[in-house]
Amino acid sequence: GENGTGDGSTEGYPDQNITIVVPFSAGGPTDTVTRMIAEPMAAALGGKIVVQNVEGAGGTVAAGQVATARPDGYTVLMHHIGMSTAPALYKDLGFQPLEDFATVGLVTEVPMTVVARTGLAPATLADLTAYVKANAGTVTLANAGIGAASHLCGLLFQVAAGVKLQEVPYQGTGPALTDLVGGQVDFMCDQTTNTTGQITAGKVKAYAVTTPERVKSLPDVPTTTEAGMPQLQVSVWHGLYVPAGTPPEVVRKLSGALATALADPAVIDQMAKLGTAPVVAADATPEAHRAHLQEQITTWAKVIADAGVQAS
Ligand code: MLT
Repeated sequence: GENGTGDGSTEGYPDQNITIVVPFSAGGPTDTVTRMIAEPMAAALGGKIVVQNVEGAGGTVAAGQVATARPDGYTVLMHHIGMSTAPALYKDLGFQPLEDFATVGLVTEVPMTVVARTGLAPATLADLTAYVKANAGTVTLANAGIGAASHLCGLLFQVAAGVKLQEVPYQGTGPALTDLVGGQVDFMCDQTTNTTGQITAGKVKAYAVTTPERVKSLPDVPTTTEAGMPQLQVSVWHGLYVPAGTPPEVVRKLSGALATALADPAVIDQMAKLGTAPVVAADATPEAHRAHLQEQITTWAKVIADAGVQAS
């Protein structure tokens, strides 16, 4: 191979650049979290990490690409809850999350926010619900494609509200948020890592956070439960993956570097400002990540089936 001696030894790892593939647009929430940890991880590994955005099909294009990459630890995927919903949403996904990847560790869990363009009339989540039902033919709901977190949250909103809306897919919620600020689309459900700045600046309207507790960085935004839609509960867990067959020693080095990055006070501080926090150390492991992925695939398959969504 190309990893040093060519005899399969992993002792020199890393001796070339590591690429972390982000399955959505630059500047969006997944990209933001990835760039927070890339440098401290690289420092811990004594190497260099490059972040590459591979957009398309709600994150599934990137996942499919990494699934078949050389299993040498130089191609890593950052993905989120979408890794667990995609099997239920796609008839022909082209990869199997539990078979085709080795889990490295969980990273963070991010609350979501229901946000709208400032010009949208409704003042509260209850008003928004009534409004979208009355205007179902014209209201537009942005998301980052089938399999994105924004897609899942938008789906849960529509189920809770009892309405089917016109969805506008983007390559990531970075560009979707830009259009929301610009007033080109009406509303969406997106992660605090993307929306906090625009909410605080008054550039978008925030109706609710999708977690049981309020988010410290957005103290004035009610929870969905407070706002009368307790069914809308979702937070976006993230994890790092490498192709199945990556040497366990390399996976162990990546997990160790992840844990080091997540303990970095600067990382903790940046995450806190955006409404989130690193996972506890025990969850930044291959075992905890794999168990969580497995549980989430089962959970969301049932929710998606109960919602009557046909795989596309
Ligand atoms: C992104 O990074 O653009 C988002 O995570 C997309 C999404 O899943 O909603």
